[in-house]
Amino acid sequence: MNKPAAAVASFAVLVSSLALCAQTPSFTIQADKPIAKVSPTLYGLMTEEINYSYDGGVYGELVRDRVIGRGFGSLTHWPAVARGNAQVSVAADESTGPSAELPRSLRVAVTAAAADAPAGVENGGYWGIPVRSNEIYTGSFYARTDTPGLAVTVTLQNDQTGIAAASTVVTGLSSDWKQYKWTLKTGTAPVSANNHLLLTIAKPATVWFDLVSLFPPTYGARPDGNRADVMSLLAAMQPKFLRLPGGNYLEGEHIADRFDWKKTIGPWINRPTHESPWRYRSSDGMGLLEFLEWCEDLKMEPVLAVYAGYSLAQEHVEPGPALEPYVEDALDEIQYVTGGADSKWGAERAKDGHPAPFPLHYVEVGNEDQFDRSHSYDGRFAQFYHAIKQRYPNLQIIATAPVKGVTPDVIDEHYYMSAVESFAQAHHYDNASRSGPKVFVGEWATREGDPTPNLEAALADAAWLTGLERNSDLVIMASYAPLFVNVNPGGMQWSTDLIGYNALSSYGSPSYWTQVMFSSHLGTEVVASSLSDAPVRVYASVTRDAARHKLFVKVVNASSTPQPLAIALKGAGELAPQAVLTSMSGKTPNATNSIEHPDAVKPVERKVPIHGSKFTEIFAPYSVNVLELSD
Ligand code: AHR
Repeated sequence: MNKPAAAVASFAVLVSSLALCAQTPSFTIQADKPIAKVSPTLYGLMTEEINYSYDGGVYGELVRDRVIGRGFGSLTHWPAVARGNAQVSVAADESTGPSAELPRSLRVAVTAAAADAPAGVENGGYWGIPVRSNEIYTGSFYARTDTPGLAVTVTLQNDQTGIAAASTVVTGLSSDWKQYKWTLKTGTAPVSANNHLLLTIAKPATVWFDLVSLFPPTYGARPDGNRADVMSLLAAMQPKFLRLPGGNYLEGEHIADRFDWKKTIGPWINRPTHESPWRYRSSDGMGLLEFLEWCEDLKMEPVLAVYAGYSLAQEHVEPGPALEPYVEDALDEIQYVTGGADSKWGAERAKDGHPAPFPLHYVEVGNEDQFDRSHSYDGRFAQFYHAIKQRYPNLQIIATAPVKGVTPDVIDEHYYMSAVESFAQAHHYDNASRSGPKVFVGEWATREGDPTPNLEAALADAAWLTGLERNSDLVIMASYAPLFVNVNPGGMQWSTDLIGYNALSSYGSPSYWTQVMFSSHLGTEVVASSLSDAPVRVYASVTRDAARHKLFVKVVNASSTPQPLAIALKGAGELAPQAVLTSMSGKTPNATNSIEHPDAVKPVERKVPIHGSKFTEIFAPYSVNVLELSD
């Protein structure tokens, strides 16, 4: 650079730094002035069977339609297979099944077959069956045959190459229904989702199958447990609760299709399965006990939603004597969760394999009962409230809509918003009354992006979360919804879902990462802070954890330009010379993650030198940031 040019350049730097000083908005943080307690249970999960969340999702089962239901539909995923000159026909048989609850089965009638020309059925799983090398898969089926002693060959086979990743032979079938258990061990099979499970026989015979099941290794090696990769994503969110089992899934389209918890416990053979409001049948493999074990695995508590006499097709049960059996059912359910093994339903839980009771503090009565056009919720809620409080005075009862007459402990409010709305609502609770019930934001999401939210949604989510965090003396719990989506064509019934997956892999959306960032830097108290000349689309909240000597400064810069903030920290004591800045940003608000590009938008961590209690930090365009300071 020649001299005049250098002079011009340094003059330009001077001018721009003067301009920066003149314009830099200030962010004053009063670190020694706590203004509210942070709810330790603020971040949790909301879940229901939607978007193949359990079957084809977090529940580890790999066989699709493992229970043969009524009619042709249930056979869609059970095509016949005949090699060489073999001949076979496959049908749903209404006349025989393994139990009263599962009265039908898959009849596989083989009229010609031989060792080199076997015949049977196959199942392609939920858009494929994942295979990895050197893994043990646990399988079982119920079967009977007209040819006692018959052997069934079970093979995990690649769709394209026809190569078997693993195979075993189940021998000695009998004419009575019996369960057969087996394992498949893969060798050097390449990682692939393009596989199916094959059940074949090598001679003419008829076999009836039901409850054909195959599990990969699961999270925490829990038998018949959850998918490890998806559970690890959830664990990173450090959730404190799981709101279960819905959502609309609790209510069902009709009363008969509600989440009838007693039909979801015990051996699979006693679970009749049921129709979900999201247009596919639930296997109920994810039954009440599995929900609770999911909580146990992630060290979170259930928020138990009990069916409260309203279903989506505007069917309701009148408060009074007609509702009493449903109230009793809820009391039984609470006892199943919390009762000692010497109580009726606690004993049932012990019989199901879990003698120890589960912790429970919150029971939610219904779901979105503002949609009940009979306006019966006041009466229904009161009946549940009194009955539950009488038996379990320490439980906190959550209402799903405003009620008169009884004051609920907590009210569940739902927000599905555009990005514009989420930004606008970032201060929604700042001046809300503190004299009524506490608030549970049981479902919320910024709905931008499909199937999973993009960066714009994540920025708006972060802005919204600064508001929940600042007000978490009032908002004691919050959970995004829906949590999951199977990204395969046909897998999604509701767009903008936090975590996406196919048979083989899974990923967190930018909104997922926003939550990981917020929940892993929670703090115990909100401290006073003020942004002056707050720029458009910049949001902040500050919490501290005095015992750990930490201050967490969350800043969202949703604008398209770098945002300097002159941070003035008051009452912070002597700060450590280095802070950690965790930041997630992207080039455009449309930036997103997908099954093909799972890591396009993710937080990164870097050390930031801190000199004294006044410093300027520049926050990247389109960024969510947590600055962690230590003293
Ligand atoms: O999250 C999807 C649906 O939205 C839930 O099932 C329901 O509670 C809400 O209307």
